[in-house]
Amino acid sequence: MTDSPALEGRVAIVTGGARGIGSAISEMLTAEGASVIVADSGVDIAGNDPDPSVAKAFASGLGERAAAYTEDMGVSAAAVQAVEMAVDTFGGIDIVVNNAAILRDAFVFKGSPDDWDAVIRNNLSGPFYLVAAATAVMREQARAGRGGGDAYTWGRLINLVSTAGFIGNYGQAPYAAAKGGLISLMRIAALDMARTGVTSNAVAPFARTRVTEIIQPANDEQEIYKERALKVDPQHVARMTAWLCTDGAQDVTGQIFGVRGRETMLFSQARPVVTAIADGDTWTMDTLTDTVNTHFRDHFADMRTDLEVFNTDPAL
Ligand SMILES: NC(=O)c1ccc[n+]([C@@H]2O[C@H](COP(=O)([O-])OP(=O)(O)OC[C@H]3O[C@@H](n4cnc5c(N)ncnc54)[C@H](O)[C@@H]3O)[C@@H](O)[C@H]2O)c1
Repeated sequence: MTDSPALEGRVAIVTGGARGIGSAISEMLTAEGASVIVADSGVDIAGNDPDPSVAKAFASGLGERAAAYTEDMGVSAAAVQAVEMAVDTFGGIDIVVNNAAILRDAFVFKGSPDDWDAVIRNNLSGPFYLVAAATAVMREQARAGRGGGDAYTWGRLINLVSTAGFIGNYGQAPYAAAKGGLISLMRIAALDMARTGVTSNAVAPFARTRVTEIIQPANDEQEIYKERALKVDPQHVARMTAWLCTDGAQDVTGQIFGVRGRETMLFSQARPVVTAIADGDTWTMDTLTDTVNTHFRDHFADMRTDLEVFNTDPAL
């Protein structure tokens, strides 16, 4: 990070930008010179009881380069409106941070279709609506040479994901499925926007927020996990997110990063680990059994949960 503001003149929308990790991101982006639409409806963790005063108070505390948008970002019309607000208020849209999320956990055998729909709409459809609305304007801006006479090929899409989406935890089917979907959305947006110079990345955070505060430990291991999580300051996640918005990250796209205190990670993405080709026309049940046992089994993804994979002290 340079001493002079790295993001001067850039305009961002941060969903869920008034609380937790989102508020740290809104603060970091404005500190680096960007203008920010704080798009936060002020709902509780399950997505109920909206309170517009949360984003209004937070945005006014950030100063003139911040404005609150308080509609539900899980609705496609809200995405269009938030982008219009960015353009009307601050002159364009350059950065989208999809951070808003809700949780409705239950074991799959007790899962409710209504909870599934609510989480997928809020945590996956909403981000798609915003990416679709913003990238359409970003492409127009590119053609219009926003910010100067030359072609404007600049933009940033950042999805806050979770290791729950690719490692997993018990009872988080809708949340994890939405986060897995957000990784796919990130990849396709990176491909679709490559020619326009717009990058798209994912950040899996670990940080102290109201979500970590309400974890009800079911055993000693979870108790230790919670204690460790409560020590981690969200500003590290905000700094990585802001870095991805700098010019130095222009060629960084399609990647999944992790941030846990001072520890920054790059995650692998699924590629074939081992392959085997059938003898003759196709496989038989017996040759499949044999091939899985002799070639694949040693390479199976382990069944450890998030809590077990990240069971070490964070670097504070
Ligand atoms: N805290 C962690 O350790 C952790 C771990 C993994 C992933 N994450 C991810 O990081 C992001 C931020 O999490 P957090 O812990 O800061 O959560 P949080 O609950 O503290 O804040 C989320 C904010 O999003 C807002 N919001 C939710 N749905 C909205 C909607 N439809 N429209 C507008 N605003 C909406 C809420 O009002 C709230 O202010 C989330 O995507 C979460 O899944 C967090």
